[in-house]
Amino acid sequence: MQDQEQRQCPTQGYLEAFKHFATEAIHTGQEPEQWNSMAVVPPISLSTTFKQHGPGEHAGYEYSRSGNPTRNCLEKAVAALDGAKYCLAYASGLAATLNIAHLLKAGDQIICTSDVYGGTNRYFRRIAAEMGLKVIFVDCSDLKCLEAAITPETKLVWIETPTNPTLTVIDIQGCAEIVHKHQDLILAVDNTFMSAYFQRPLALGADICMYSATKYMNGHSDVVMGLVSVNCEKLYERLKFLQNALGAIPSPFDCYLCNRGLKTLALRMKQHFHNALAVAMFLERDPRVDKVLFPGLPSHAQYEITQRQCTGVPGMVTFYIKGSLEHAKTFLKSLKLFALAESLGGYESLAEHPAIMTHASVPEEDRAALNISDTLIRLSIGLEDPEDIIEDLDQALQAAVSRGPV
Ligand SMILES: Cc1ncc(COP(=O)(O)O)c(C=O)c1O
Repeated sequence: MQDQEQRQCPTQGYLEAFKHFATEAIHTGQEPEQWNSMAVVPPISLSTTFKQHGPGEHAGYEYSRSGNPTRNCLEKAVAALDGAKYCLAYASGLAATLNIAHLLKAGDQIICTSDVYGGTNRYFRRIAAEMGLKVIFVDCSDLKCLEAAITPETKLVWIETPTNPTLTVIDIQGCAEIVHKHQDLILAVDNTFMSAYFQRPLALGADICMYSATKYMNGHSDVVMGLVSVNCEKLYERLKFLQNALGAIPSPFDCYLCNRGLKTLALRMKQHFHNALAVAMFLERDPRVDKVLFPGLPSHAQYEITQRQCTGVPGMVTFYIKGSLEHAKTFLKSLKLFALAESLGGYESLAEHPAIMTHASVPEEDRAALNISDTLIRLSIGLEDPEDIIEDLDQALQAAVSRGPV
């Protein structure tokens, strides 16, 4: 009965949905009046350069790296969806991370939460650290650990919530209160998993909200892109300078596609939540499964924080299959509707093995400490009919069991 109620009204108990979200996704930054043609759909502005009336006299654009009309439409829409004043777009999520790291100088320290996307871990550990930044990994879901780790050299605290792949939820407001006891210390939140529809880090006190827009924000698995939203003008000016100076910008065509993806973000996220909750409840009841990690289940360790800081939960479901690596592999190879592939947040369902795939670059001992074991499987639940998704999981679990005793 409780299951049924939860499935019928999955957003009960969460923060109220952000007002005017769908309207802003469709209209903000898209005004036809900005084009001579009055085009309702923003044109793809491919020109790399823009004619000037006189030297230094231009209509807002000079060279496409420093500013582009199609990118501008996207950046305005995302800023509105994040409840932010400014947004900047980048060639990838990692390019956005790189730009943020460039706010720091050699000798400064970054505190990164311990369970992050493998590429973020690799960038901080193997590149930023070699460029003179000091990087330490701390479990920021434990606020006391975060507080104890801050030193006068700490200039950036980087969190990702929910974490990838174990879906631990971090209290953003709690982190912001600790971080802002220190002058010139910035809190950045990787909001990729939640998307702007379910979580607004800036409203919870973060200074930077960052995305791999490759995931839910674009939502169609056909664009690699990064986004950063901020409210502080000084921070924006510095990031805008870096966006141009480092040059890791997205193409106008990709900006067009991502801008289009945003038009259905609200609809997509609601359905991702609905489908993922159905899957999580199915898996939690299944004897072939050891444990399910989904922040929308009352059994999740941070269910209460999730309800307090989010308007809902996206389509990421992680679980431990009973048995061994061989059972996990058989399960993944047996899926028919799900594609065995990295990435997440698209309309199509994907499954992957973090230890072998997305998190292979995380050192083995760290993977063990984070419980990224051989039986851990990460699902990105898409927008197919939930009955079909569950049927596919069911038959793949059966194939895994048929492989031999667990
Ligand atoms: C949570 C998270 N942050 C950042 C990234 C990096 O983004 P991109 O692949 O767009 O560079 C990813 C990619 O999977 C991710 O999952």
